[in-house]
Amino acid sequence: MASDDIDVDSMTLTRFVLSEQKRIGATGSLTLLLNALQTAIKAISAAVRRAGFAKLGSAVGDTNVQGEQVKKLDVIANDLFINMLKSSFEVGVMVSEENDKCIEVTDCGGKYVVAFDPLDGSSNIDCLVSIGSIFAIWKKVSPDSKASEADLYQPGRTMVAAGYSVYGSATMLVISTGNGVNGFTLDPSVGEFILSDYNMKINKRGNIFAINEGYAQYWSSDVTEYVQKCKFPGDGKSPMGARYVGSMVSDMHRTLKYGGIFMYPATTKSPKGKLRLQYECNPMAFIIEQAGGMASNGVIPILDIVPTGIHDRSPIFIGSEENVKDYLKIREEHDKKK
Ligand code: AHM
Ligand code: MG
Repeated sequence: MASDDIDVDSMTLTRFVLSEQKRIGATGSLTLLLNALQTAIKAISAAVRRAGFAKLGSAVGDTNVQGEQVKKLDVIANDLFINMLKSSFEVGVMVSEENDKCIEVTDCGGKYVVAFDPLDGSSNIDCLVSIGSIFAIWKKVSPDSKASEADLYQPGRTMVAAGYSVYGSATMLVISTGNGVNGFTLDPSVGEFILSDYNMKINKRGNIFAINEGYAQYWSSDVTEYVQKCKFPGDGKSPMGARYVGSMVSDMHRTLKYGGIFMYPATTKSPKGKLRLQYECNPMAFIIEQAGGMASNGVIPILDIVPTGIHDRSPIFIGSEENVKDYLKIREEHDKKK
């Protein structure tokens, strides 16, 4: 650091990715792709910050002060992801939570495959609770043919990179290229993501559980028993704390930083859970495993699930290894009795 707290040698995200690229002798195409994503995320962050006065809320038909129709924040975020990824010339096919069909980029022969949720937690936009974006990146399966929808049916285990951004009290981008997890905070005065959380690790055990308890009547007996144990652990132990933001990115960022468990189980109303495999569960599972934690659908690791559709859903139990194992033990006992 030089005087006046101006860092004259800061580790920006671009610099970090370039040094990784050099270390592994890569061609630079993933660097270009990550740069495009970074631009989309910076622009979304700017839009989120001015959403209130620019009337970029989530309600359809909002009008601005001139009485013109304005795009909703989630539409802006989706357009930014798609346009920036296309313009990197590195992406062959992508899937967005906002589009029913996959988006094939036919004119560039890009070797990467990207799944993303451009604005996760959109029900929280209008009340200013933290929201985020999530992405997962694979290589296309066949090097010789053009990328197509089939390339999006890969399990999480073959991912080459994943990340998420949180638009909270600061904007942060957390990313893994399969060599640990690093967090970068957006410095608005420079317009760059600066390395702030190096080599992030999740605690082996944490003291916070997160689940939407309002749906307790729809849970299976194993989930009910586990949550009861979080609240009444017995043996004079203190109960765990409960937190639930309702934006997966925010709930997961807290889980990564403080430890604990986040759950979105299957319920009698949603037998496959709610969260989407390719752009919610898998990227978060990749990051949490890279940070030393665990992610399961209750039976197998999230990263080993083979998708059957590009918008598949999966139940998820994710976080500190020991907390997830506690749940899985109860689950196993219940499954044996069935
Ligand atoms: P969204 O992609 O429509 O925003 O929905 C996903 C969100 C997650 O961010 C969050 O974990 C979950 O839905 C909350 O759902 P619920 O309100 O059912 O608890
Ligand atoms: Mg979402």
